[in-house]
Amino acid sequence: MKMSRRIENLPPYLFVEISRKIAEKKAKGEEVISFAIGDPDIPTPPHIIDKLCQSARDPANHRYPETDGLPELRRAIAGWYERRFGVSLDADSEVLPLIGAKEGIAHIALCFIDPGDIALVPDPAYPVYSVSTMLAGGESYYMPLRAESDFLPDLNTIPADVLRRAKLLWLNYPNNPTGAVADLDFFNRVVKFAQQHNLAVCHDGPYSEVAFDGYQAPSFMQADDAKEVGVEFHSLSKSYNMTGWRIGMVVGNAKMVNALMRVKSNLDSGIPQAIQYAAIEALTGAQDCIQKHNMIYQRRRDLVVDILNDIGLEAKPPKAGLYVWAKVPEGYTSVDFATDLLDKVGIAVTPGTGYGKNGEGYVRLSLTIPDVRLVRGLSRLAEWRNTRHRPQR
Ligand SMILES: Cc1ncc(COP(=O)(O)O)c(C=O)c1O
Repeated sequence: MKMSRRIENLPPYLFVEISRKIAEKKAKGEEVISFAIGDPDIPTPPHIIDKLCQSARDPANHRYPETDGLPELRRAIAGWYERRFGVSLDADSEVLPLIGAKEGIAHIALCFIDPGDIALVPDPAYPVYSVSTMLAGGESYYMPLRAESDFLPDLNTIPADVLRRAKLLWLNYPNNPTGAVADLDFFNRVVKFAQQHNLAVCHDGPYSEVAFDGYQAPSFMQADDAKEVGVEFHSLSKSYNMTGWRIGMVVGNAKMVNALMRVKSNLDSGIPQAIQYAAIEALTGAQDCIQKHNMIYQRRRDLVVDILNDIGLEAKPPKAGLYVWAKVPEGYTSVDFATDLLDKVGIAVTPGTGYGKNGEGYVRLSLTIPDVRLVRGLSRLAEWRNTRHRPQR
C-alpha cells in the first residue's frame, strides 16, 4: 500500500502523550477533569430540538438534500445577519449553509490554493486553516499573534515575496485560542490590505455570539467593501449549543461562495433537512437562550480567571469566546505544565503549542464544563500550587 505524501505530511497529533496519560488514569479509576475541549456542555435549547424531531418525522426530509441547502434556511441566515449586524446578503448568491463551519473552512482551500500558493494563517490558530492549505498542496505563512499586539496580526511585517504568492488571508475573532477580539477598524484595515495585495479574506467568526459584560462582537462583513474581498464562516455550534448537529454557514463574496458550492456539490450531499429546519428555528426563533448561556459562561470565566490569578498564573478575562488563555508558570513549557497538571491533580488543559509555535508559554482552558465539575476542577488547580516544583526533563 502506498499512501499519499499529503497523509504523511499531516502533523502528528500533538496531544498523543497527554491523551495516553488521560486514558491511563481513567483505566485506573482516577477521575480526570478536562478543561481541554471546546464543546458546549449545555444542551441544545428545547424549541430547536422540538423542531428537529418534528422535521425528522416528515418523509419529505428523508431524502438527499440539495448542496446549497433549503432556500428557507439561506433566507433565515440572511435575515439573521441583517438583524444582528445590519449586513444585507443575497440569500441565493451570498449565503451557503455548511456541514459545520469546519467543513467549509477545510474545503475552501481547494477553491484557492494550487501547489506553491500561500495562505496567510495566524499563529496560534484553529489548526484547520493550515492543514487544509497543506492538503491542497499549498504552504502556510504564519502571522504571529502576540499579547503585546492584542493578538492581532501585524500585516505590515509580511514580506513582499510572501504577499506575491499569497492568495488567502485567514482571521478569526473572537479568537480561539487566545480569547482576543477585533474591532471594525481592524476589519476595515484588513479589507484595504486585501484589496492592495489581491487577497481573498476568510474570516472565521463562530464565537461572535458568546460574549460577556455587554460586549457585542462585530462581523467582518460589516467592514466597508468586505463583500468585495471576502467571506465569513459562522456556525450554530457555539451560539445555540449545536456542535453535535453539524450546521454552519459561509456568507459574503458571491464568487467565493459559488466556488465553494461547486467544490461541495462534488464532495458531499448536503445537510440533513431536519437539521436545516432546526437551524431555521434557531436563527428565527426566540434568542433569549443566547443571553442565558452567556451568563453561565461569564460566571465560569470569572471563577477560572480568579483561581488562575490566585495561584500566580497570568490570565485576562476574555470579552468573548469559550476559552481562557493563561500564561504557564516560569520554568515550564506549555506541554510541561499541561503534563504536570494532569500528573499531579488530574486536570487536562490544552498546551498552547497545539495551536502553533507562538502558543508556547500558554495553556487554554475551556469554559464548557458543567458547574459542579468546574468547581471541583478549580479546587484541584488551587491544590496544584501546593504540589508545585519544577518539572523533570
Ligand atoms: C475557530 C473555530 N472555527 C471553526 C470551528 C468549527 O465549528 P463547527 O462546529 O461549526 O464546525 C471551531 C470549533 O471549535 C473553532 O474553534
